[in-house]
Amino acid sequence: MQTLNLNGYALPILGLGTWKSTPGEVYEAVKAAIEIGYRHIDCAAIYGNEKEVGKAINECIKAGLVKRDELWITSKLWNNMHGNENVVPALQKTLNDLQLEYLDLYLIHWPIAQKKMFVAATRASHFLSLQEQPIANTWEGMEQAVEQGLTKTIGVSNFSVKKLKDLMTVARIKPSLNQVEVHPYFQQDELVNYCHNNNIQVMAYSPLGSADRPKSFKAADEPVLLEDPIIAKLADKVNATPAQVILAWNLHRGISVIPKSVNTARLQQNLDALQVKLKPADMEVLKMIDKNRRYVDGKFWVVPEGPYTLENLWDE
Ligand code: A2P
Repeated sequence: MQTLNLNGYALPILGLGTWKSTPGEVYEAVKAAIEIGYRHIDCAAIYGNEKEVGKAINECIKAGLVKRDELWITSKLWNNMHGNENVVPALQKTLNDLQLEYLDLYLIHWPIAQKKMFVAATRASHFLSLQEQPIANTWEGMEQAVEQGLTKTIGVSNFSVKKLKDLMTVARIKPSLNQVEVHPYFQQDELVNYCHNNNIQVMAYSPLGSADRPKSFKAADEPVLLEDPIIAKLADKVNATPAQVILAWNLHRGISVIPKSVNTARLQQNLDALQVKLKPADMEVLKMIDKNRRYVDGKFWVVPEGPYTLENLWDE
């Protein structure tokens, strides 16, 4: 599989997303994925399913299907564990759940800090502002995790160009990747270019538009990426499915993708997106359908009198 270089480590460009996969579903999905050739699994403590993901990974290793060093496992630090002293304990809990000795990549999940006792933050008093709990301080904990051999690489998620620039000025170990929403309806050219010009790889979450998000995350008038007529036409032309065209578009831009599926046929279909070839003219067609539309818009971090606004989250 094509890989991206993260500080000398090879990230398989296509992985399996596990957000929204219930503990009951994710075990089978991870096993099926590894069996058909997936080598990269994207996890997070907040997904509430790392124990089942870990069980599946370890059974695959024990069965001789794959070796640990052939897999790329990412996980993410939740918002209530920001702060230098909290990072290594949070990572150790994730490693314990995943039954692993090390991660390949550990990310700060959001540039949002919550008080330690609030895993879910619903009111202002649950949050800490980034002045009270600076990213630079949390990053020191991320660097310690590398130095202790608990993760090979570290990065961030949901970071704007401004937040990346700020972090780059203080980081001893530079962030190797930014995981953000990227798909043809939300192309993020400026952020992607900044990352690629600064040796930061990009991983696209919700690469298929995450139609299975909870209702509370959805807008009433939302366009459905997988049902776009221009994508459907192009898919017919290149003899692929709409999902494959959408994934291939990111892959052709050198962006890693982590489509989530708990369905064996769709797992295979998504993996086969690696073989889909798009010509420069096809890429141009897709360039035109950008709607600058986030599906994961971050509104859930905005509460009355709280420290976070959409402006200070996305710096837009
Ligand atoms: P399922 O898990 O039943 O396959 P995202 O990766 O953007 O979060 O999107 C995940 C959503 O897209 C899930 O609802 C998933 O359903 C669905 N999905 C995954 N792969 C495909 C595919 N190849 N075609 C259509 N829908 C897909």
